[in-house]
Amino acid sequence: MSVHVQNSRLTTAKLRQMKVNGEKIAMLTSYDFTLASLLDEAGIDMLLVGDSASNVVCGNQYTLPITVDEMIFLTKGVVRAAQHALVVCDMPFGSYQVSEEEAVRNAIKILKESGCDAVKLEGGEEILPAIRHMVQSGVPVMGHLGLTPQSVNQFGGYGLRAKEEAEAAKLLHDAKLLDEAGCFSIVLEKIPAALAEQVTKAVSCPVIGIGAGNGCDGQVLVLHDMLGLNQGFKPKFLRHFANLAGEVKTAVNDYITAVKEGTFPNTEESY
Ligand code: KIV
Repeated sequence: MSVHVQNSRLTTAKLRQMKVNGEKIAMLTSYDFTLASLLDEAGIDMLLVGDSASNVVCGNQYTLPITVDEMIFLTKGVVRAAQHALVVCDMPFGSYQVSEEEAVRNAIKILKESGCDAVKLEGGEEILPAIRHMVQSGVPVMGHLGLTPQSVNQFGGYGLRAKEEAEAAKLLHDAKLLDEAGCFSIVLEKIPAALAEQVTKAVSCPVIGIGAGNGCDGQVLVLHDMLGLNQGFKPKFLRHFANLAGEVKTAVNDYITAVKEGTFPNTEESY
């Protein structure tokens, strides 16, 4: 007896076709089953289980502390929710920098244990051998250039990247290398819009921007930021598509009042 399991999620081939057709790609981060189900039902193309989970889920200052097993735990919930969206899991800091072999081993572990469709890792030429090895092993890889938060201790902050000519030239060179190595997509974070547009035109794979202007093939935002859950964070590139922090606080205030006044639960809400 043969068992054929149909995966209806978006494929990397379809993403490439979207670039060719000029159809914009919408990606959001996602870290749990319930919200991932809503994003998937709403029609999002890609769900990124970002290592920003370290900040927004775990409350760390940086992305650095989150581990492979913690990323797998979160990704499993998102994968269970995703009927249509392609699910990408970030490879956390330390899981791909030590050696090519360890990088491939961790990428395969993430794919096997979480059920996600692809992994993302930060960096250019310096991690090219690992990327090549992963792609040759059958792991779909998304690159990430520009502001790479795992290198915050080297950069000394989260400022705009590639403003100067030399860094811009390196970024363009790195993007071409990632494309040639078989990355199915590249994220460009917080770089000048003109450079992002130049990179987008120079590579064959879809380029997804965050703080990289409107000339990319698609956009990504951190879900908690765009929903207005993270009130203290408002960089220039961020648009709040909702103000859920306000709504959550109002709902919780109403609940507290109802409990304290003894009006919740009422008779209809009781057995
Ligand atoms: O971890 C993350 O959320 C990301 C996006 C900002 C692209 O890498």
